[in-house]
Amino acid sequence: MILQIERIAKSFEGGDAQRRRKTIFEDLSLNLQERDFVTILGPSGCGKTTLLRLIAGFEKPDRGKLVFNGNPIKGPGPDRVVVFQQSGLYPWLDVRHNISFGLRNSTRKVDWKAVDEMVEAVGLTGFETYAPYELSGGMQQRVALARSLIMHPQMLLMDEPFAALDAHLRRSMQNFLIELCARFETTVLFITHDVEEAIVLGQRVLIMGSSPGRILGELDSREVKPLGDDIIDDPTYRELRRRAVQMLDSQVT
Ligand SMILES: Nc1ncnc2c1ncn2[C@@H]1O[C@H](COP(=O)(O)OP(=O)(O)OP(=O)(O)O)[C@@H](O)[C@H]1O
Ligand SMILES: [Mg+2]
Repeated sequence: MILQIERIAKSFEGGDAQRRRKTIFEDLSLNLQERDFVTILGPSGCGKTTLLRLIAGFEKPDRGKLVFNGNPIKGPGPDRVVVFQQSGLYPWLDVRHNISFGLRNSTRKVDWKAVDEMVEAVGLTGFETYAPYELSGGMQQRVALARSLIMHPQMLLMDEPFAALDAHLRRSMQNFLIELCARFETTVLFITHDVEEAIVLGQRVLIMGSSPGRILGELDSREVKPLGDDIIDDPTYRELRRRAVQMLDSQVT
C-alpha cells in the first residue's frame, strides 16, 4: 500500500461574518495501492482539492492520519508532485529550463541528457528553447507534466490538469498520460469534473459527495480502454457512466 488515509477530519475557519468553522471532512478513509490510477469525481466544493492538498502535505488534518510509504506525511516532498489546471510554468525560462527546474533544488548537477529525454517523451523535441508564451495550452501542460515526471515522483497528484483544453487535445493528453505513467510506474490521483475523463483514465473511479466530504462509491473501470470518439458506443463505458451520474445526482437535493 502506497497511501493510507485513515479517518481524517478537516475544517477551515469560514469566510462568513461570524467566521463559523466549516467542516470539510469528518471521517474520511482511503487506500491507494502502488501504480493505481485513481480518478475522483464530485460536486464543486466537496473537498477534492483539499484532499489533494492534504496528501501533498500543504495542509494538515485536524484528526486522523495520512501515511505515505509507511511514513506519516509531515509536509510536501519530492515523492508526491502536484500538477494543477494552470501549468504554473516560469515565464522567463524556456522549455528545457522549466523542465530541469525541480532538479536544481537537489545537490546533484542537472542531468541534461535526462532533460532532453523527457523533452522527447512529451513530444516537444524542437521546442526546447521556446518560452511558455510561445507554446499552446496543451504544450504548456506537457511541459508541466515533464517537469513533474523528471523528479520521478512515486505519486502524481493532478487537479483538473486538462480542464482548459479542447476535446481533441484533452484526448491526446489523456492517452499520453496513461502511457507515461505506465512507463514511469507512477501512482496517480486525478481530479476531474468530466465523467468520461474519469472513466477513461481511471482504473478506479471514486465518486465523492459533500457536507461532509465523503466517498459515496467506487467504480472499477479497468475494462474501459480509451477508444477515442467510439467510447460512447461501448456498453461497459455506458453502464459505468450511468452509475457515476446516478451517484452524483443522488447528491443534488
Ligand atoms: N484555506 C481555506 N480556508 C477556508 N476554506 C477553505 C480553504 N480551502 C478550501 N476551503 C473550503 O473548503 C471547501 C472545499 O473546497 P475544495 O477546494 O476542496 O473543493 P473542490 O471539491 O476542489 O471544489 P471544485 O470542484 O470547485 O474545485 C470549500 O467550501 C472551500 O470554501
Ligand atoms: Mg478543486
